[in-house]
Amino acid sequence: MEDIKKGLENVIALETQITYIDGEKGILEYRGYNVNELSKLSYETVSYLIINGKLPDGNEFESFSNQLKKERAIDDGTVDILKMCNLDIEAIDALRTAISYLSHHDSDLNDHSYEANMRKAVRLIAKFPTIVAAYYRIKNNQEPISPDASLSHGANFLYMLKGEKPDGVEAKLIDLDFILSTEHELNASTFSTRITASVLSDIYSAIITGLSTLKGSLHGGARMEVMKMLDDVSSPENAEQHVLDLIEDNQRIMGFGHRVYKTYDPRARIYKSLARHISEERGDTRWLEIAERIEEVAHRELVEKRGKDIRPNVDFYSAVVYKYLEIPPEFASAIFAIGRVSGWIAHCMEQYADNRVIRPRAKYVGEHGLKVE
Ligand code: CMC
Repeated sequence: MEDIKKGLENVIALETQITYIDGEKGILEYRGYNVNELSKLSYETVSYLIINGKLPDGNEFESFSNQLKKERAIDDGTVDILKMCNLDIEAIDALRTAISYLSHHDSDLNDHSYEANMRKAVRLIAKFPTIVAAYYRIKNNQEPISPDASLSHGANFLYMLKGEKPDGVEAKLIDLDFILSTEHELNASTFSTRITASVLSDIYSAIITGLSTLKGSLHGGARMEVMKMLDDVSSPENAEQHVLDLIEDNQRIMGFGHRVYKTYDPRARIYKSLARHISEERGDTRWLEIAERIEEVAHRELVEKRGKDIRPNVDFYSAVVYKYLEIPPEFASAIFAIGRVSGWIAHCMEQYADNRVIRPRAKYVGEHGLKVE
């Protein structure tokens, strides 16, 4: 009872076959495949891999992709629920509400069989993008757009969001964003998802737990904060003073630092090259230049001068990519969740398959034996 690890740092809570991270070397693998390798695939393929533990063959891919396409549409009730949401909240809050509503009408809700869980998994993965895009449209006084079965998971999301089919660069970019967001071992939202699964609650409830945790600004919510920071800084010349002011005020630089990586987050490296690619393609390097200047100054101040292992994490350059995709900051966490839902589902399935309630202890440091007057 004496050995307290605040924040559960370095505590090994369970065995997993889903994800491997080497935080010293900056290695990330899903199901044994390095994330750089997986960047060559589609999100649908990576989602199948994460959930089923193996890459799909041609028929398996076809079948999974068709099941997702069939489940993309949302009913009028869900659209009405989104219309009733406050339109000034973050999209992830509206997504959480819509998923809760959907669960009420899923006849598989309390069927915990593997088959029913897989049916619910497909519905969740397929409907996340449709809900986020519908909320975006409603917020912008536009009617939601029905999914287009000729488009991939990522391209269809951008189509439902913007009303225009994306070009090849944008479609690949959003697919990579979903792939890089898919999974990351026992991060806070995945751990909380597994806790909900471990008490044999249903998979919708577990996913809602994940959404609620992902929203936090020290986790997935950091991406929105980075986007706001890029807006506040607004030009590369302002970046140095902005970082110096944050450090002077003892505030954290959002999108920097990581519990596990003591070197560059491999996902941040990929996002940085994607940000460079799209900035060159668009002929507009402003957001990238601001971000690179923030990184330079943060490195000088935190790593070189103060000897801290604080480098960009997944949320830093992904925010830059979102700026180029013209995604509003308040949609950043919800879009992160579109990718992450496959990882949460894989962890639920792993937890259900070999379950023990996750229930740690706390060391009591309060008073004893008090009497009521
Ligand atoms: N900016 C400035 N200083 C930092 C930062 C940062 N972003 N992150 C950590 N530090 C400092 C912290 O002040 C502390 O310094 P000291 O030892 O002098 O007190 C030291 O580094 C260790 O920090 P910690 O809070 O003990 O580290 P942690 O492992 O508990 O927290 C973290 C990890 C990701 C919450 C933290 O780095 C952070 O708050 N980063 C900013 C928010 C962020 O970008 N979150 C996204 C995380 S990665 C993706 C995801 O999970 O979604």
